[in-house]
Amino acid sequence: MPAPTKTVWPMEPHTRAKHEILRRYLEAWSAILGLGGFPTIAYVDGFAGPGVYDNGEEGSPIIALKAALSHQARISTEVRFLFIEQDKKRAARLQECVDAFERPPSFRTRIAEGMSFEEGFRKYLLDPHREKNKPLPPTFAFIDPFGWTGVPFALVKEILAYQGCEVLFNFMYEEINRFIEHPDQTKNFDALFGTDEWRGVTEFVDARARREFLHGLYVSQLRNAAGARYVRSFEMRNKKDATDYFLFFATNSKKGMEKMKEAMWKVDESGTFRFSDATNPAQTLLFTPAPDFAGLRRAIVQRFAGSEATVAEVEDFVLAETPFRSTHYKKQVLAELEKEGRLEVINPQPGRRARSYGEPSMRIKFASDGA
Ligand SMILES: C[S@@+](CC[C@H](N)C(=O)[O-])C[C@H]1O[C@@H](n2cnc3c(N)ncnc32)[C@H](O)[C@@H]1O
Repeated sequence: MPAPTKTVWPMEPHTRAKHEILRRYLEAWSAILGLGGFPTIAYVDGFAGPGVYDNGEEGSPIIALKAALSHQARISTEVRFLFIEQDKKRAARLQECVDAFERPPSFRTRIAEGMSFEEGFRKYLLDPHREKNKPLPPTFAFIDPFGWTGVPFALVKEILAYQGCEVLFNFMYEEINRFIEHPDQTKNFDALFGTDEWRGVTEFVDARARREFLHGLYVSQLRNAAGARYVRSFEMRNKKDATDYFLFFATNSKKGMEKMKEAMWKVDESGTFRFSDATNPAQTLLFTPAPDFAGLRRAIVQRFAGSEATVAEVEDFVLAETPFRSTHYKKQVLAELEKEGRLEVINPQPGRRARSYGEPSMRIKFASDGA
């Protein structure tokens, strides 16, 4: 679908799921960080849009303002909102939307109009903090372009290098895949991936193999080149069951990943679109009301069979390496394994309730089978 040229455009159905995730996550994010004692936190909308869609639906900047407002009564932290929008007409429309939004004094909003995500982020966040030799405040960057230009991986990496900074990137897979072999775009794709390894895509003809290759390369760049501890990607499929986009989320915060998963698991299914965790193509998992706990069990047993681990280690594995949440593995997997005699607690606290795993330092031993 070509990028809209009008200042305000109709909202595509797939945007709704993206917004729902953003809203749920930001509600949790602003509450946690706001109560976490930080003097300032920042939300950056790198491709902010006009703030509204044709039928009056809210754009991402307004969703972010509202999400932060829902906890404002309890929060005294300053929340900085940086909305970057390159198109001046859209930026002007966004200004109207933001002006119409009643904001508490602790909210500081800035619309960086007529500049790119990179220029705006550098000018208003990175450069001033660097000049003062100060780290960035905890920052959530939402990166939501129409296409594949304007999101240099070098900048994503720079953002993730700061403690408490994280990114949610809407990676427009369908278009990227369509244009990736276009000879004029080589430099743009080098910048997007932060490497020229994407050029290996020409070896793959099969649609699935291409997707796995390109998706895997971006995941690997986030993990290995940018050093993000927790990386997951979420796939939106369209009515023809082809990949529309991936949302990549990268953070160094365990809590952040936990909250993002919570948002993903709760996102309503429209019926037209399918939303799944796609981080590991061999274990793609649909977000459905009844999670596939057998898959989680298999993953845990595969990883820990025959070895010992603390509950905290198992939980970190669940969060970092599987699509599941920390609320998913105790009752549905550990307790079942223990009941079957395939798991033993090595250092139970006196008076421990049977099949409870509340103590993170509790050591457990897994039998060598049990999948
Ligand atoms: C997909 S729309 C954003 C939608 C918005 N995030 C939302 O969810 O409501 C992308 C926006 O980015 C703007 N844009 C395009 N290139 C840009 C760049 N390099 N930097 C910042 N904004 C850009 C476009 O004018 C457009 O309004």
